[in-house]
Amino acid sequence: MAAQNQLYQISALSLMFCLGLCALQVTSRTLQDDSIYERHQQWMSHYGKVYKDSQERESRLKIFAENVNYIEASNNAENKKSYKLGINQFADLTNEEFTTSRNKFKGHMCSSITRTTTFRYENVTAISSTVDWRKKGAVTPVKNQGQCGCCWAFSAVAATEGIHQLSTGKLISLSEQELVDCDTKGVDQGCEGGLMDDAFKFIIQNHGLSTEAQYPYQGVDGTCSANQASTQAATITGYEDVPANNEQALQKAVANQPISVAIDASGSDFQFYKSGVFTGSCGTELDHGVTAVGFGTDSDGTKYWLVKNSWGTDWGEEGYIRMQLGVDAAEGLCGIAMQASYPTA
Ligand SMILES: *[C@@H]1O[C@H](CO)[C@@H](O)[C@H](O)[C@H]1NC(C)=O
Repeated sequence: MAAQNQLYQISALSLMFCLGLCALQVTSRTLQDDSIYERHQQWMSHYGKVYKDSQERESRLKIFAENVNYIEASNNAENKKSYKLGINQFADLTNEEFTTSRNKFKGHMCSSITRTTTFRYENVTAISSTVDWRKKGAVTPVKNQGQCGCCWAFSAVAATEGIHQLSTGKLISLSEQELVDCDTKGVDQGCEGGLMDDAFKFIIQNHGLSTEAQYPYQGVDGTCSANQASTQAATITGYEDVPANNEQALQKAVANQPISVAIDASGSDFQFYKSGVFTGSCGTELDHGVTAVGFGTDSDGTKYWLVKNSWGTDWGEEGYIRMQLGVDAAEGLCGIAMQASYPTA
C-alpha cells in the first residue's frame, strides 16, 4: 500500500513536471517568435522597409529569421572565425536574391577580355608594410549603389578619384550616374552591369567625368544628361591592368594608388560581413567591382587587403572590408588578383 502510494506520488510528480516543462517550452517558443518579430519590426523601421502585404511580410520575416540564425551561429561557432557577421540591410534577402540584384560585374560573361600589358609598377621594390589611402586623403566617403548593379561604376570612380587626388592634390567626389547614363555604347549597361576597364575607356574618350554634386547618383538607369555631364571635373589619360593572378604585383600597384579590383562577392558570409579579416569561403566567379585602397597586417599577424565597397556604411567596417592577403591560390581570396586595373593621369 505504501509502495503503491509512493508510485502514485512519483507519477503525479512527473506529470506535473512534464506539464510544467511543456508549458515552459510553449511559452519560450512564443517568446522567441515574439522576439524575432520584434527584431524584424525594428529592422524594418531602421531601414525604412515596407512590404506590399502581410503575405510578403510573413515570407520576409521567415528569411530574416533564417539569416539571423545563420549570423548568430557563425558568430558563436566553437571554431571562432577571424571575422564577424552582422544583421545589415540585406537581412531579409536570400543569398540568391542578394547576388542577383546587386553584383553585376560582367567579367565572367566576357570570355575574351583584352588585358593591357604595360605595368608601370613592375619594378617597384620598396613597399611599406601598411598602406591606407584614406589617411592620405585620396578616398571619398563610402557610397551606396542601392538596388542598381553598377558596382563597376563605383569601383572605376573610386580609382579615378584616387589618381586625381594623387596627381592634383584635390579630392573630388565624381559621378557614377554619368557612367550609368552615358557610358552605354560599349559593354557597360548601367544597372545591368559593366566593366571597370570600359568605364576608364569612356572617361578617357569623354575627357573626364562630372562631379557627384553636379550629376548626382539616382540608382536607376537614366537618359544621359548633356547638361549635367558638360563639366569635366577630373580626367585620366589612360589605364593599365595589373598582371593577373599575382598578389605581389597587386601589392605594388596598391602601394601607389587605389586600384579597381573584381571579386566573387556571392557568399552568405560576404553578404553579412561585419568586421575582422575576412577569410571566408568564396569562389572566383568574379561578380562584383570594388576598390583596393590599402593593405596591412592584423594584430594576430594575418595580412589583409583594405577594400572599399559601395554598399553604404552599415555593411562591414563602416563600408569597408579587410580581405585576407596572401592565400595559397594565385587568384587571391575571392579572385581579388584576377582582374585588377587602374587609371593613369
Ligand atoms: C623595369 O626594369 C626593366 C629592366 O631594367 C626595364 O626593361 C623595364 O622597362 C622597367 N619597367 C618599367 C615599367 O619601368
